Amino acid sequence: MSFESEPTGTASIRLQKALATAGVGSRRASEQLIAEGRVTVDGQVAELGTRIDPDSAVVRVDGKRINLRADLVYLVLNKPAGVITAMSDPHGRSTVGDLLGDRADRLFHVGRLDADTEGLLLLTNDGEFANRLAHPSHGVIKTYVAEVSGQVDPKLARRLRAGVELEDGPVAVDGFRVLDLSADRTLVEVSLHEGRKHIVRRLLAEVGHPVRRLVRTSVGPVRLGDQRPGTLRSLTPEELAQLFQEIGL
Ligand code: URA
Repeated sequence: MSFESEPTGTASIRLQKALATAGVGSRRASEQLIAEGRVTVDGQVAELGTRIDPDSAVVRVDGKRINLRADLVYLVLNKPAGVITAMSDPHGRSTVGDLLGDRADRLFHVGRLDADTEGLLLLTNDGEFANRLAHPSHGVIKTYVAEVSGQVDPKLARRLRAGVELEDGPVAVDGFRVLDLSADRTLVEVSLHEGRKHIVRRLLAEVGHPVRRLVRTSVGPVRLGDQRPGTLRSLTPEELAQLFQEIGL
């Protein structure tokens, strides 16, 4: 038996190994982080040689939580238009679950996109994470790009920031800008920290610009980028750490 092997019969592993497995960096780089005092375990600054139980230890690097649980899955889907946000559908409509294959039964979606809305949808089997992220009190900002009818006056930004009254209460945007303008349509970017049903469509219709096409391009620090429609990717350790921070995990 080499000195590097882990004891059997215990869930404890070396901290640098856990960090490396979580994608923080190589074992050597992880040791360096520990030596520099940048890693805490359950609130205490860790030392080289620290062993942890990855199922229960709360490990942070520079204050940011690192996921050490190999069984927890955090995915980004670029949801295509025409797919409903559900894992299955008794009416035979196309669902997000169809895009997940045999993973569908273990995962759930974080919030919803309308069937006609495209873009970034998070999927996970971490219930606490999903609940917190979906809750408006954590104020995670979601950004959408909308193609709307008509020419949008850039001054609309001020009105949207001040708040617009909808039938179920006011909504105020966190950000708004015109991306592109042509004769009969405008491309706008809207950021919001709430998630009421059809909120972006209702908001823009209320100010006279019905939505023709809607794409969610980011959720907090996670961006859709050029990910192809219908494809999945894992959140990076950095994205996950930032999201954990935003939702207080
Ligand atoms: N707002 C909408 O109107 N639809 C969505 O799918 C998401 C936000």
